[in-house]
Parts: sequence; structure tokens; C-alpha cells
Amino acid sequence: MTAGTEAGDQPARPRVFITRRIPDIGLDPIRAVAQARVWDGDLPPSRPELLAAVEGCSGILTLLTDRVDDELLDRAGPGLRVVSNYAVGYDNIDVRACAARGVAVGNTPGALTETTADFAFALILAAARRIPEASRFVRAGRWTSWGPLLLLGSDVSGATLGIVGFGRIGQAVARRARGFGMEILYSSRTAVDPATEAELGARGVPLAELLARSDFVSLHVSLGPETHHLIDAAALALMKPGAILVNTARGPVVDSAALYTALRDRRIGGAALDVTDPEPLPLDDPLLALDNCLIVPHVASATTATRGRMAAMAAANLIAGLRGEPLPTPVPPPA
Ligand code: NAP
Ligand code: GLV
Ligand code: GLV
Repeated sequence: MTAGTEAGDQPARPRVFITRRIPDIGLDPIRAVAQARVWDGDLPPSRPELLAAVEGCSGILTLLTDRVDDELLDRAGPGLRVVSNYAVGYDNIDVRACAARGVAVGNTPGALTETTADFAFALILAAARRIPEASRFVRAGRWTSWGPLLLLGSDVSGATLGIVGFGRIGQAVARRARGFGMEILYSSRTAVDPATEAELGARGVPLAELLARSDFVSLHVSLGPETHHLIDAAALALMKPGAILVNTARGPVVDSAALYTALRDRRIGGAALDVTDPEPLPLDDPLLALDNCLIVPHVASATTATRGRMAAMAAANLIAGLRGEPLPTPVPPPA
């Protein structure tokens, strides 16, 4: 692992650590105001490398792979003003510990909503119509003729979609589902206003009902103590035989061992996972041996335009925090 690059040498400028190379649209404005060290390894800094790198920093730009906790805040020291997460999810950050020290925390809400919803819908379609399996079939030389019973999947059009967590991305998925003529159910802990419900053609139901009635269940909750293993063996047992589970939220929202059993025994039809527990998923993970489990490497927000927008937002938060100004997109204060 290599050290990062130093840019700028005016001692008066605040020191910041950027834990990975992000698009220049974010790096350039930061370099204009701060002494920025960018970690330029292909892998994230190890924990000891991260702790050493944040020492004496006024700001840190973190990724979802960096854990920000008391230990890290201690190492950064009392000069730390801001932690800017290059993600909308901030389960990697102990927000309460930051608040207790007066460290501002920012994230990137909205910048990736449509891109992530597009991807959730791509996973719904890919799993329902067995696209990765069909592609493997062709490449394995098994395509011998058109077949009446070849690679039959299930219809997305007209099916019932259950959206778990009806925030920005969950609602954006509902807008797509409308175009497919789907019946849309959602579960939410906060009441959704009737105008939004009507506009999206979606109906709020308890989670158990959603699981029992949906042909597709798509997860869009943030990860926290209440949503850790929200989809466990009991939840999976409620799902319809043949139903498909899609996760673009966070890996630990699903109990992976219970999911493996449900998929292996064909209790449910399939799963499509952008996020896993752990990440990356080791090659010997049993989920990877299942034909009915599609797994991709946490890429739901991965488009050039969206990653650029996220970089600009993360930079704006970092710079505001360095100046002691309110962040443009602060994470909600801890309850
Ligand atoms: P959001 O607008 O904050 O939506 C999250 C939703 O989860 C909120 O509606 C929230 O409800 C709900 N929720 C939280 N805890 C819950 C609980 N215990 N029970 C029921 N609902 C609960 O955030 P977003 O922008 O849509 O993003 C959602 C999540 O997607 C992020 O936190 C992130 O983890 C994940 N994500 C993943 C990718 C990817 O690359 N795969 C990309 C973007 C985002 P309240 O309103 O009651 O809080
Ligand atoms: C990605 O997973 C994010 O939370 O932005
Ligand atoms: C299939 O290709 C069809 O024409 O039905």
C-alpha cells in the first residue's frame, strides 16, 4: 500500500485526508482551499493506515468502507471539524460520537437516487428474466435451439412489488414500477402523505403483509439497529414461493445464512444482491454457488455522472465544515 500525494504546502491551510481517489470535480475545489492528502491505493487504507492518516486533520472525506468511531476521532484530535461521507448511507459513522465532539457530518442525499433506483429495477428484471444465467448459458455453448421451455422466468409487468423503506430511493423505484403496471405495496415506519401515495399509486401495509403478498421485495431502508437482519428466516418464510428478493440497501439488512437456506431449498425463487455481508463477499461464500442468486459488487450508484455529483456534494460539505459554516447536506442529527 502506498502513501498518498501531497498537494499544496501553505501551512495555514487546513489539513484534510481523502480516503480514496474520487472524481476531480470533488478534488479540485478541496485542493484549492486545503492541504489535501488523497489515499491513492487501489484498496482502502487499512485501519492502522487510516488512523495514522487522520492525525491532526481538520477534515476527513470518507467512504462507506471507512469506520468513523471514537477511536478514529481520538486519533484525529480536537482540530477535527468535519467528516464528509461520499455516500448517502452513513451507517459507517458514529454520528452521536461526532455530535458530542462538535464534528459536523455530511452525506450525499439525492445525488444518487435515480441511478440507484434504475439499478434496483435492473436487478428486478435481471433476476425475473434470468438474464445473467441466460448469458452464462450462451457462453457455455449450450444454446442449441429456441426452446418452448428454455430459461422460463417470471413476469415483472403486472406483478406485485413490495418496497421496504419508502424514502427517496424507495419512492423512485415505485415511479418506475408504475410504468410496468405493477401493484405497489410499501412498508414504512413514518407515515407517507396521502398525496405522495396517490401520485405513486402505492399502498402502505405492515411488513408481514408486504412479504406475504409481493412477487418482488426490494429493500430500501437505511441500516441501523432496527433494520439489522430485518429480513431474517422468519421474514423469508413469509415470502411467496417463487418470490424474488432484491437488496440495494445494505448487506446486513438481510440474514445471509437464512437467505442461503431459503434459496437453496427453493423456498423463494431468487435473490439479486448489490450489497452483501460481508463486502467483498469471499469467493467461497455459499451464496456464490447458487444459480438463483445474482450478486454484483455494490455498484448501484456507479455511473460517471452520479459519482461526479456525489464528489461535488461531498466536497461542498467538507469545505463548509472546514469554514465552520452549516453543511449543505448534513446528516440528520442523532435522535
Ligand atoms: P432515505 O430517503 O433516508 O430512505 C431510507 C428510508 O428507510 C426512510 O424512509 C426511513 O424511514 C426508512 N427506515 C429506516 N429505518 C427504518 C425502519 N426501522 N423501519 C422502516 N423503515 C425504516 O435514504 P435513501 O436515499 O432512499 O437511501 C436509502 C439507503 O439505500 C441508504 O441508507 C443506503 O444504505 C442505501 N444505498 C445504497 C446504494 C448502493 O450503492 N447500493 C446507493 C444509495 C443508497 P424514516 O423516514 O422513518 O427514517
Ligand atoms: C451507497 O451505498 C451509498 O450509501 O451512497
Ligand atoms: C419469439 O422470438 C417469438 O417471436 O415468439
